[in-house]
Amino acid sequence: MFQKIKDNILYAGMNDKDRVIFDELIPLDNGTSYNSYIVIGSEKTAVIDTMYPKFTKEYLKSFDENGITKIDYIIANHGEQDHSGSIPALLEKFPNAVVVTNAVCAKNIQEMLLVPAEKIKIITNGEELSLGDKTLKFMISPGVHWPDTMFTYIKEDNVICTCDFLGAHYIFDDVFAVPSKDLEKSAKKYFAEIMMPFSVVCRKYVQQIRELKVDMVLPSHGPVHKNPDYILDLYADWAGEKGKNLVLLPYVSMYNSTEEMIDYLAKKLEEKGIPSIKYDMVEGNLGDLAMALVDGTTIVLGTSMVLAGPHPAAFNTVYLASVLRPKAKIASFIGSYGWGGDLFGKMADMLTPLKLDVIEPILVKGKAKAEDYVKIDNMAQTIYEKHKTLGLL
Ligand code: FEO
Repeated sequence: MFQKIKDNILYAGMNDKDRVIFDELIPLDNGTSYNSYIVIGSEKTAVIDTMYPKFTKEYLKSFDENGITKIDYIIANHGEQDHSGSIPALLEKFPNAVVVTNAVCAKNIQEMLLVPAEKIKIITNGEELSLGDKTLKFMISPGVHWPDTMFTYIKEDNVICTCDFLGAHYIFDDVFAVPSKDLEKSAKKYFAEIMMPFSVVCRKYVQQIRELKVDMVLPSHGPVHKNPDYILDLYADWAGEKGKNLVLLPYVSMYNSTEEMIDYLAKKLEEKGIPSIKYDMVEGNLGDLAMALVDGTTIVLGTSMVLAGPHPAAFNTVYLASVLRPKAKIASFIGSYGWGGDLFGKMADMLTPLKLDVIEPILVKGKAKAEDYVKIDNMAQTIYEKHKTLGLL
């Protein structure tokens, strides 16, 4: 059954409890939900965002089961198919409905879903649409996370539909968020993969929504926030410019030589009051790495040499870090080789756009010797001094 959010605002979304990976990239711990909202005004009825195509049939059926017999407007806050995918089917069911969206999203849904141009009403930033006793105000908000995104503010109810922004991959029975460690973790993983590359605009929108002093945040994944500050404070922290006193140690080690050096570095850092997160790049959960990247100030990647270059898992991690644009400021590498090659050059090149302060890497043939452990001691000391300079210690 649809759930009531406020008078004549209904939650019409669905849980996808069996989904275990999103974007074929980030493993999901708690499935996800695709949220859709119905706003019933005294004259017109609008649907805000629709449904992932896999659930279209069930979604359409739910309109009948809940007595929704008329839809005038379908508001598309974003063109990605997990929210727009059921627009064509909804238009078939409600042939008089008009899709309302911004110009960038209009182009997307025309090209990706073949929605005819004559079925789309294009709005501009700040434009309002009256449903009678309820008014929708559109806030074009590009970059969280596509160029086509916008928020829909329901004026009389003082609630805002933020689409992917402020969301979480999380399923629920009761639509209202109950803060918990699980929810926070899911929201953080979601932020890391989807929003972190756009942290600058995230900060701007967090501020905008704070200034609106909304009563509720209605995202398109995860529960509705009756206490908007809960999710706004989390996003403000995650999207902030400054990392924590934390070192990330992603590693892959074929004969333990690299892992021994990473463990030694972790021990030396701990002695200096610097926590670290060790991450197995072969067996680890990519979501955990992404989440650690939200906080880490320093990344020291450890890799074995494979066929004269870094292990492919190391490339994968470096690539992910380069596109997620974390707030890390300092980086280095530790590695071990059997017969030769270039272990760090290409990875350092990939990280160039992040403008990191790169500490001299440590490369060892086989097992680390006494002089190599001295180099690791020095690396730990350098990290300590740099964290101190950054005001993290
Ligand atoms: Fe949840 Fe960008 O789609």
